Amino acid sequence: MLPMARARTHGEVAETLRRAGCVAADDEARELADSADSAAALDAMVARRVAGEPLAWITGRTVFCGLELIVDPGVFVPRWQSEALARAASVLLPERGVAVDLCTGAGSIAAVLAARRPTAEVLATELDPVAVACAQRNGVHVAQGDLFAPLPARLRGRVDVLTAVAPYVPRIALHRLPRDVLAFEPSIALDGGEDGLDVVRRIVAESVDWLGAGGDVLLEVGSDQCDDVARLLERARYHAPSVIEDADGDPRGVRAQRV
Ligand SMILES: C[S@@+](CC[C@H](N)C(=O)[O-])C[C@H]1O[C@@H](n2cnc3c(N)ncnc32)[C@H](O)[C@@H]1O
Repeated sequence: MLPMARARTHGEVAETLRRAGCVAADDEARELADSADSAAALDAMVARRVAGEPLAWITGRTVFCGLELIVDPGVFVPRWQSEALARAASVLLPERGVAVDLCTGAGSIAAVLAARRPTAEVLATELDPVAVACAQRNGVHVAQGDLFAPLPARLRGRVDVLTAVAPYVPRIALHRLPRDVLAFEPSIALDGGEDGLDVVRRIVAESVDWLGAGGDVLLEVGSDQCDDVARLLERARYHAPSVIEDADGDPRGVRAQRV
């Protein structure tokens, strides 16, 4: 018979996580303990975390803009750095407007828009079937497919707010991502091609057919990509591009308005 796992104290779990390089070891230890229903389950969870697996995959959830969301293993974990974009988009979305969130992943931004504008129509698209199933579990109306392809034609020229946290890491910079991100998170969520803007360029070009006049586009990109994306938007049919900053004041994306 296998020996019963000994219940580890909070301090022991936190110390194990700290030694493994987790910066928020105390908080993570608490979250793991809250999610485990036995000492053996907690041991297994700690081992997964020590191996570098994202905390949200182990606990199965994360909090984004105050909303608790399901995050299934294999799905990009929503980042706090995207919260400012989600909040800004929800303010811009009219009560009875139409919003589209491309590359929705677990559906975090679409879920925030739907929660804050319950009378608006909020749709999302996503290529990865695992992420699509996860977004559906978060109550998001999501269609599987490439960028705008799965959207109903009736929305052409009627979208008020378009959001996207598309893959935007330049291929040559992928190796500089934290080891655990590279090892675990899907490359389809990260790899933005040679300069990182392959998908973003397509979004800008195709979006002009979907946004109505005066509609807003909000795109997350790296801080050093904001100028290039502002120029891309101005060359398409957008004006007044402005930088979206995260809660730390760091540039996280660009917003512009369809002429
Ligand atoms: C960086 S993740 C962002 C996910 C989510 N928006 C968030 O902020 O948590 C990018 C997502 O885009 C999806 N994706 C990549 N290429 C796509 C495409 N051509 N069409 C739709 N989704 C795509 C990936 O599967 C991944 O879920």
